[in-house]
Amino acid sequence: MTTDRFLKACRSEPVDRTPIWLMRQAGRYMPEYRSVRAKVNFLELCKSPELCTEVTLQPVDILVVDAAILFSDILVPVEAMGLKLDFNPAPVFEKPVRTKADIESLRVIDPEADVPYVLDAVRMILRELNGRVPLIGFSGAPFTLLSYMVEGGGSRNFTRLKSMMWGEPALYRNLMEKVTETVIRYLNAQIHAGAQAVQIFDTWGGMLSPADYLNYALPYTRRVIEGIEKTEITGPVEFTSKAERPPEGEFRTVPIINFVGGSQGIMPLVARAGGDVIGVDWRIDIAEARRQLGKDKAVQGNLDPIALLAPIPEIDRMAKEIIAAAGDTGHIFNLGHGIIPETPVDNVKALVESVHRHGESHRVKI
Ligand code: CP3
Repeated sequence: MTTDRFLKACRSEPVDRTPIWLMRQAGRYMPEYRSVRAKVNFLELCKSPELCTEVTLQPVDILVVDAAILFSDILVPVEAMGLKLDFNPAPVFEKPVRTKADIESLRVIDPEADVPYVLDAVRMILRELNGRVPLIGFSGAPFTLLSYMVEGGGSRNFTRLKSMMWGEPALYRNLMEKVTETVIRYLNAQIHAGAQAVQIFDTWGGMLSPADYLNYALPYTRRVIEGIEKTEITGPVEFTSKAERPPEGEFRTVPIINFVGGSQGIMPLVARAGGDVIGVDWRIDIAEARRQLGKDKAVQGNLDPIALLAPIPEIDRMAKEIIAAAGDTGHIFNLGHGIIPETPVDNVKALVESVHRHGESHRVKI
């Protein structure tokens, strides 16, 4: 069965029920993922189109979500820029980017040549999905990618990154330019390979003050979004009626989801950065997020991922409240961050069922 309710919701069009997918829907909480991971390390998994296809499909089959997301990591294209990467399981760059020479040694990637396995994975997943649900491609936002590149891994205070930002602004801008161009090429390559939507992960954007987000993150995210090429709307997703099918030869961008973690204090700025859909976390009421984002944005979110450790009736209640608060159109249900490994699979299944149930009952039949 084909479902395009995810793509319709991205464009704020009416849907039969609220679509749901989950950040990190393929991952260690799932025994099927762990058994694939037992054979290879994480980067080997990311570089094998066959194994990527297998784990990308797992949540589609097991959870019955409304979209698949390419299995990879935001740091894969950064490694291809020339920065040696390890996962232990958290990401580590042995030689973080700190100097002009470090920046000069990085290259802007040519995706088909430098990350062919990612694009092969996109093509293979699409064949395997055969139109069942759309495939979301993704990239890290420039700011979030820089945080790992400059800090050398995860960080609590972002001291190195912020020191570069304020202390060596020319260096910061220089690195941002290279990363931004890489992200633009990387997303366009995924779209040309067939990805039907893209998400930009700016997990750490909310670590900046509003003024700093405006100055040091927003312009680059905006440039990425403006750099997404329009493509002809075809692809394996069937339109439910002829009237909904775009005219032949129509070109437009695939839906763009701009997810920013901790964005509750910068909501209007995130809207200004762009995207058809704004991904929000649980620190803001989703109705309030919509008020601040304005009518022309769809919204994605925003259950606390730790809520999946709660009793199932509580999960059901929280899902129902989010659906009611989000309004009738332009809502894609998701978590506010990735699923954590300790999460019981049965609770995730229960959440998907709750969203399908509550997301149908308050909707006009189409
Ligand atoms: O959502 C999906 O199912 C698609 C796959 C995906 C992964 N990472 C798989 C992964 C996506 C979209 C990401 C994005 C990503 N990676 C982000 C942005 C979103 C977020 O989660 O904040 C960030 C910041 C990273 C960087 C990263 N990768 C970290 C901090 C870690 C370690 C923490 C952890 O949860 O393990 C990773 C590793 C990683 N990325 C794993 C997976 C499944 C675990 C690796 C393993 O199997 O051991």
